[in-house]
Amino acid sequence: MCHGLSENAQVKAKRHNDARGASHCVWLLNVHGFVTRKKKLQEFTHKPVPSQLYRALQQAIGEAGGWLPFDRFMALALYTPGLGYYANDLVKFGAMPGSGSDFVTAPELSPWFGRALGQQVAQALQATGTQEVWEFGAGTGALAQQVLEQLAAQGLTDVRYHIVDLSGTLRARQQERLHAFAGRVDWPTALPDKLQGVLLGNEVLDAMPVQLLVRVSGVWHERGVTFVPGAVDEGCALVWQDRPTHLRPPVDVPGEHDYLTEIHPQAEAFVRTLADRWTQGAAFFVDYGFPEAEYYHPQRHMGTLMCHKAHRSDPDPLVDVGLKDITAHVNFTGVALAAQEAGLQVMGYASQGRFLLNAGLLQLAENAPLPERAQLAKLVNEHEMGELFKVLALAPMASADGWLPMGFAVGDRTHAL
Ligand SMILES: C[S@@+](CC[C@H](N)C(=O)[O-])C[C@H]1O[C@@H](n2cnc3c(N)ncnc32)[C@H](O)[C@@H]1O
Repeated sequence: MCHGLSENAQVKAKRHNDARGASHCVWLLNVHGFVTRKKKLQEFTHKPVPSQLYRALQQAIGEAGGWLPFDRFMALALYTPGLGYYANDLVKFGAMPGSGSDFVTAPELSPWFGRALGQQVAQALQATGTQEVWEFGAGTGALAQQVLEQLAAQGLTDVRYHIVDLSGTLRARQQERLHAFAGRVDWPTALPDKLQGVLLGNEVLDAMPVQLLVRVSGVWHERGVTFVPGAVDEGCALVWQDRPTHLRPPVDVPGEHDYLTEIHPQAEAFVRTLADRWTQGAAFFVDYGFPEAEYYHPQRHMGTLMCHKAHRSDPDPLVDVGLKDITAHVNFTGVALAAQEAGLQVMGYASQGRFLLNAGLLQLAENAPLPERAQLAKLVNEHEMGELFKVLALAPMASADGWLPMGFAVGDRTHAL
């Protein structure tokens, strides 16, 4: 997702890290107990979360013995039926806070995103001899609409489009938006045993729960969530608690300095699940993130976990739970390795800007009105979405040879993964 597009992404990342650093000391309860609990309760106490979700969290923490690893907390905060952020009926997607939205994504920002991606999809369908598109995490259905319109413009009117989304409320919005394509779009509740076609996911990997690892005084801990005992009101006393762990980041992080980061077992398991069933086609995953050498750089010591609400970012997922998005950057090396180990081939890895230009964005939008061209420039400008966002393409072995996805014709960075 994209915020304050006029700001430099690196400046934002630094601000994020500063904010996290500033509040770090008040979030943390150490594993040895609540030594300072009376005196410091104020500092640890967060704003209320919606009461039903709070009760669900409290129950889950209780059932887990008093401590939930962060990935389980994140899953509940985002996907608890009817209550989690992606399961409730808040607006979420939109260009401006005035609409009640929290963030904007590329297909919401400009329809030319999905049209250019649609050209890539058309090439991939033809090259792999498939006739189906599977989109994961389709949001409002904007990308589906853009891709289907582009496919139709290229004469591909018989392609079937399947949408898989964890969110029931978003599914309803997608159905409303895509009614013009009724009969060709469906919402399967499970993957078929044999999966064929072009797979798409825009900002879906970043929405998958992550585990938090924190190195404190040279010792690795897993960061989880608990609540302050005795805090009976819903003034919500969700707090961090770290426990020593054998888990480690996938690469060594040089140095002994304190270091917070994420690992992504769910995103990697998701790719393995696809690989188990997928026989033919190509996949394009678009998201913000880095190769692992950048992800686990010693200077990125406050990780990438971030929340989004009303077009502002904040680093505290324990506040306003269920009312804001929680996300982490993608470790593209981890996803690519999981794919390779499961028998898939990496077909390309490039910045979003480079990918869209290769896919013909500028030629497609040649006659677009000036305001639309100004908007689409944000998709490719390096200081906006063009560089932080990447595209990773995968294919089953049977579909990997004899063609090059057009989006990677120039500027492929697979070697950097
Ligand atoms: C940040 S939104 C992106 C929405 C849309 N792709 C866009 O670009 O506007 C993340 C979406 O991924 C969905 N999601 C998260 N995990 C998923 C999974 N494992 N399978 C399918 N959808 C998932 C969420 O429900 C939500 O619709």
